[in-house]
Amino acid sequence: MKVQIDSGRCQGHGRCYDLAPDLFGGDDEGYGTVLGDGIVPPGNSRDARLAASNCPERAIDVLEEA
Ligand code: F3S
Repeated sequence: MKVQIDSGRCQGHGRCYDLAPDLFGGDDEGYGTVLGDGIVPPGNSRDARLAASNCPERAIDVLEEA
């Protein structure tokens, strides 16, 4: 599993890094960033889906096969 953020959609709501700080961070302006290469460790898959479903802009993609 892999996560991506569509920077064109992200408005900096910050739910991603609040809910899944192991997977996401925030830049200087509060926009979400993917930590590392975005590969989700097996134990963090629930957090990845939680963050994606809580992003008001639907800016987070969860790629199940990656
Ligand atoms: Fe951006 Fe959504 Fe996170 S708007 S900061 S990707 S919760």
